[in-house]
Amino acid sequence: MRRPDNAMFNRNRFKLGLFSPNCAGGMAATRVPERWRATWQNNLELARLADAAGLEFLLPIARWTGYGGETDFQGDSLETITWAAGLLAATSRISVFATAHTAFTHPLVAAKQFATIDHIGAGRFGLNVVCGWNQPEYEMFGLELPQAHGARYRYGQAWLDVIRTAWQTDGEFDWDDEFFTLRHASCLPKPVGGTLPPIMNAGSSDEGREFAARNCDFLFTVMVDPDSGADVVRRMQGMARERYQRELGVFTTTYVVCRPSDAEAEEYHRHYAVEHADRDAVERLMTLQGMHAQSFPREMIDQLRVQFAGGHGVYPLVGSPDTVAAGLERIAAAGFAGSTIAFVNYLDELPYFVAEVLPRLEAKGLRLPAGEGLAEAPAA
Ligand SMILES: Cc1cc2nc3c(=O)[nH]c(=O)nc-3n(C[C@H](O)[C@H](O)[C@H](O)COP(=O)(O)O)c2cc1C
Repeated sequence: MRRPDNAMFNRNRFKLGLFSPNCAGGMAATRVPERWRATWQNNLELARLADAAGLEFLLPIARWTGYGGETDFQGDSLETITWAAGLLAATSRISVFATAHTAFTHPLVAAKQFATIDHIGAGRFGLNVVCGWNQPEYEMFGLELPQAHGARYRYGQAWLDVIRTAWQTDGEFDWDDEFFTLRHASCLPKPVGGTLPPIMNAGSSDEGREFAARNCDFLFTVMVDPDSGADVVRRMQGMARERYQRELGVFTTTYVVCRPSDAEAEEYHRHYAVEHADRDAVERLMTLQGMHAQSFPREMIDQLRVQFAGGHGVYPLVGSPDTVAAGLERIAAAGFAGSTIAFVNYLDELPYFVAEVLPRLEAKGLRLPAGEGLAEAPAA
C-alpha cells in the first residue's frame, strides 16, 4: 500500500532530490575552496531549505572509506541511518532515505533501525539498498566481495526478505536459508501505519536492475543520455510489470551547474572540474569502478574524467536556468520519474536553482509550486 504522507508518492510528475550532501565534496572531486563540507550544521540547514522548497527527497551515499587525493574525496561522511534519523526529526514534508550496504548490517538490526526512523519521520523514511561493489570497503570489514553479481544480489534478496518478513509478521518467526539462521525473530515497532516504506535499489548491472524490478518501488540508475535512458526505462518497467506485476518508478542522477548564462556555467564547470579537479581522487574512483584508460578511447576517458570530477561520473546539467530546465525536461520525457541533483556547494547554489529552475519546471507542467504537489497522487 502506498503511503499518503511520503513525498515520493506525491502528485509531482517529475520528482527531485539532493544526492550525497552527507559526504565531503558531495559528488564533486574538486579542490576549490568552496567545495562541500559535510558537517551536520550544513546538512541540517540544507535539509530545511530543501523541505521548504518542496523537493521530494534527500538521498545519502553510504561511504566507509574515502577516495584519497588531496581532498580525500568523500572520506569524511556522515553515517546514513543516523543522518536520516536526525534530518527526519528536523523536517516536516521531505522524504529522507537511508542508504544501507546489505553486507554490513544484520537484517534484524536494520529492520528495527528503519522502523524506528520511520516513526521519527511519521512515514517519511525511505530505504536505498546497496548490494555491494567497493572492494576496499569490504576489506575494511574483513568481508569478501563476491565477484559474481548474482551472488551479491542473492545475498541482498535474503537480507531484504528477512527485513520485510520482520516487518510483516505478527509475533515470532524462524528463518533458514544459505545466509541466515534465525530463531524466534521478531521486530517491534513495525513501520508506520501497517505499510512499507518506499524501497529503492541503486544498480546498473542486469542483476541490479532485475532486483529493483522484483523488490522495489524505485530503481535508481545512471544514464548516459536521455535517449538511451528512455530505452532503459521502457525495458525495466516492462520487466517489472510482466515478471513481477509491479509498478516501478525509474530515477536517474545528475549534477547541476546553473548560472545566469551558459557561458558562466561552463566557465565555472571548467574551473572546478578541470583546472581544480582532485586528479588522484578521480583516478582512484574511476579505477574502482572499472574504468581503465586501456578500455576507452582517449577522448572518451578525458570526458569521463571531467564528469567524475564534476559529479561522480553522472549526467551533467551545465548552463543557464533555461538550459538546465530543458535538460530536466528531456529526462522527464524519456520516462524517468525524477532525478537526483547535486551541486559543488549545495547551500550556496540550491537557492538559485529553486528561484530560477523550479518555476521553469512548473511552467512546463512537470511540477506544482511548493506545497501544492504534496498530496498523494490518485492510485492509477
Ligand atoms: C543513484 C545511485 C546511488 C548509489 N548509492 C550508493 C551508495 O550510497 N553507496 C555505494 O557504495 N554504492 C552506491 N551506488 C552503487 C550501487 O549500489 C551499485 O552497487 C553499483 O551501481 C553497481 O551496480 P551493479 O552491482 O548492479 O552493477 C549507487 C548507485 C546509484 C546509481
